[in-house]
Amino acid sequence: MAKIKTRYICQNCGTDSPKWLGKCNICGEWDTFVEEIITPKNKKEAIKEKATGISTAKKNALHINEIESIRERRLITHDNELNRVLGGGIVPGSVILLGGEPGIGKSTLLLQLAVQLQGYSILYVSGEESAQQVKMRASRIGIHNEECLIYTETDLFNIFKELRSKNPVLCIIDSIQTLRSPTLESTTGSVSQIRECASELQRYAKETNTPIFIIGHITKEGVIAGPKILEHMVDTVLQFEGDRHHAYRLLRTKKNRFGSTSELGIYEMRHDGLRQVSNPSELLISENDQNLSGISIAATIEGLRPLLIETQALVSPSAYGTPQRSATGFDSKRLNMLLAVLEKRCGFRFGDKDVFINIAGGLKVEDPAIDLAFICSLLSSFEDIALPQQLCFAGEIGLSGEVRSVHRIEQRIFEAEKLGFQQIMISANNKGLDPSKYNITLAQVKTVEDVYAQLFQ
Ligand code: TYD
Ligand code: MG
Repeated sequence: MAKIKTRYICQNCGTDSPKWLGKCNICGEWDTFVEEIITPKNKKEAIKEKATGISTAKKNALHINEIESIRERRLITHDNELNRVLGGGIVPGSVILLGGEPGIGKSTLLLQLAVQLQGYSILYVSGEESAQQVKMRASRIGIHNEECLIYTETDLFNIFKELRSKNPVLCIIDSIQTLRSPTLESTTGSVSQIRECASELQRYAKETNTPIFIIGHITKEGVIAGPKILEHMVDTVLQFEGDRHHAYRLLRTKKNRFGSTSELGIYEMRHDGLRQVSNPSELLISENDQNLSGISIAATIEGLRPLLIETQALVSPSAYGTPQRSATGFDSKRLNMLLAVLEKRCGFRFGDKDVFINIAGGLKVEDPAIDLAFICSLLSSFEDIALPQQLCFAGEIGLSGEVRSVHRIEQRIFEAEKLGFQQIMISANNKGLDPSKYNITLAQVKTVEDVYAQLFQ
């Protein structure tokens, strides 16, 4: 019998090595090498061809004019948020990877697509739950699509056989980490398995023009478990995020070969599945009718959508030697920067204060335009003076305390106006704005000293 060949494979980046290494010299991670059995390539191809009927024979290059051009006909789903993040529906033959932390709602989102998209045969392959469990969940969501097929299987070749016999319009794989290709002897969920299964699925999608959704888990560090190449292999990478303890979920595009990556979908998790949120700003601003200090509203842009978000700050005397700094939904380094600017430019002393900041609704915001709102929340909490309720903010803070202009300012102003705000504070550097065009008053400021003088003096 031939000797079994093994190699050591880095579970982080997929690099292989003939011997075990403590540290991967490609990605620099420690203790990631795992021994995996290697199947010779020609044997692998033979098993594959026999089982799937997909020929691995050589193809010829084509002249560009010989290639039939097909008009891209996208599959438009009932879910507008999903259509939007995909750049206007599902492209035939595309492979879409959906990543997210466990329990965030990935299975719910795609099962909802499968059971609600009427009139399309959709194969939902679940390697994680039993058919009864899937059915229970589907009934809760509401079944409108009689042609939805549920298949509980983890063997890749059986899945291909089923795909070939049922020939569905769309296939959903839940999840790539549970699939196993018989051509490889390494364990389920290992880098080699994930890579192999993904490349076979990609090939099936391209050959038959069937779009495939692949669910992928995310590790604690926030990357899709498995090698980074998984993200390179697929056409589109979507990320589902949010705080599990809050109802809101954001669907972001991280990569898209067929559309923009700056789109954003917003959902609310309810007892009967995910509901699309079309007017998020109204939900994200909590009713603060008691005029509390430490709260201000930021006019941010997520993707291409304006979102008005409530920022909260609490500044309190610190009881212990080292003051605490805590930021939820905002970069804590950036919080330290904002505090340093306030100390240096306005003379506030935060050295003996605990500072906590938070974004309402469990969202994470990266738009720098939220800085100005946080500065105001911090000052408001420090002074214990509530800010006017009809005021919102959009501006980035620079290191010298200047309020910098932000992009898409008009869109932010219109959103604030739409939600009934009477004044918006923005940078004086946002030039070319015609105040008479808006029903909302524009308060233009240059520096954080100006902001303090206008609001608290
Ligand atoms: P799930 O889709 O299983 O997450 P993932 O596949 O990303 O691991 O979602 C699990 C959570 O969603 C679970 O905690 C319960 C909640 N949920 C609802 O609140 N309402 C619903 O209708 C469904 C189906 C799930
Ligand atoms: Mg799941």
